[in-house]
Amino acid sequence: MKHINFPKDFIWGTASSSYQTEGAYNRDGKGASIWDTFCQKSGVIADSSDGTLACCYYDNYEEDIRFMADAGIRAYRFSVSWPRIFPNGDDPAVNPLGLAFYDRVIDCCIRYGIQPHITLFHWDLPQSLSDRGGWLSAHTIEAFVRYAAVICEHFSDRVTYFSTINEPQIITKMGYYDGLHAPGYRLSMLETLDILHALAKAHALAVPAMRRAAKKPVKIGFSSTGNLCYPCSENEADICAARTMTFANTKENILFCHHIFCDAVINGLAPDFEALAPEITADLKSDDTLNFVTQHLKNVWNDCSELNPPLDFLGLNIYNGRKAGADGFTKRYAGFPKTALKWPVTPEVMNWGTRFLYERYHLPIFITENGLSCNDHIFLDGKVHDAERIDFLTRYLLQLSESIKEGTPVMGYFHWSFTDNFEWHSGYDERFGLVYIDYPTQKRIPKDSYYWYRNLIADSAE
Ligand code: NOJ
Repeated sequence: MKHINFPKDFIWGTASSSYQTEGAYNRDGKGASIWDTFCQKSGVIADSSDGTLACCYYDNYEEDIRFMADAGIRAYRFSVSWPRIFPNGDDPAVNPLGLAFYDRVIDCCIRYGIQPHITLFHWDLPQSLSDRGGWLSAHTIEAFVRYAAVICEHFSDRVTYFSTINEPQIITKMGYYDGLHAPGYRLSMLETLDILHALAKAHALAVPAMRRAAKKPVKIGFSSTGNLCYPCSENEADICAARTMTFANTKENILFCHHIFCDAVINGLAPDFEALAPEITADLKSDDTLNFVTQHLKNVWNDCSELNPPLDFLGLNIYNGRKAGADGFTKRYAGFPKTALKWPVTPEVMNWGTRFLYERYHLPIFITENGLSCNDHIFLDGKVHDAERIDFLTRYLLQLSESIKEGTPVMGYFHWSFTDNFEWHSGYDERFGLVYIDYPTQKRIPKDSYYWYRNLIADSAE
């Protein structure tokens, strides 16, 4: 096995989210989220499952956190469920039992020497707010800002790292355009970009409110995802082409790119309307003209110079990318390595993706997600042997260490995920964990990769 070199103070972490793990969907005063509702529709989740039980983490969190500590994991990224705190999203009073649950989780992390990293919004929008106009209503944005301030005020005595939104790109693309995620809408590309803008605004207004509410200085960021390209050679022309293609305003990129959201909320820059409009017009399901589209984009995104309050870090969720060069994209050969979800295995994206994004945004980076789904099962010896995960992670982390060597300030890595969990529209079919969950019994079985990660963390501390 190759040795992976990381700085001694590198933060080794792991990640999860509320709806995917907690269960307890109606306990202690929690309100319904759009995911509670969406999963009730027939045919939307691959195995017809939902998150009502998930990993029963609401009751098992201590066991999971103890397992993390046993592996030497130093940081844990999880999300707070907004409807646990405000059942309708905007109730006059907070739900004290909701706060109490996360108090227990956070105190447990601290007891085990694990740094908690809170994500405020990992997709479980209160259903009540969605019914009243969702993100397109200024009221939802106000409610988010208030919720964000409440969380910061309450937890900042023990928590330093806060992320506003997880993957605005996937929220919009899969929830409002493809309709594969809650709330299951199929809007036009133009309308979907309106939602992306609303998320940018919610983030931008929340950040100063969080800093004001915090009891001590906090570090704030968000987690971005999107298409990334890596060069087919180290020639300057190929590197340049890969960079250009990463940030191109092509139809394929528009709803799954880092730059539209990040340019606005980090650099205070509006999208390139002239480049976007023709791509979007082709997609419009009505007769709207190019001029209308350009004007609409300009009207909606005219406030970008006010959307970029200073941030402390950029979270990146990186899973795969595309090889590209001066001659265009490199076609993947038949039989190209793939994960169980059929996602290509492209470790170089860790090196080049982090470099391109740092060049453009100049913020310290956390890899807030990386990992893969494997066809894990319990072997006859009672263990879960996931050699594929170990190989994948070794390759990706070697590439990440290259980027760090080149000077990219990557502060830490959060493996997605700690335990197997509810993989959205794929249900429980897809297993991303370092720890296997035997769902019928809820028993936790550390996979081989868990022990591998433990050794990696121990070795890199030497
Ligand atoms: C992105 C999301 O943030 C997370 O919720 C999801 O489970 C993983 N990627 C894997 O698809």
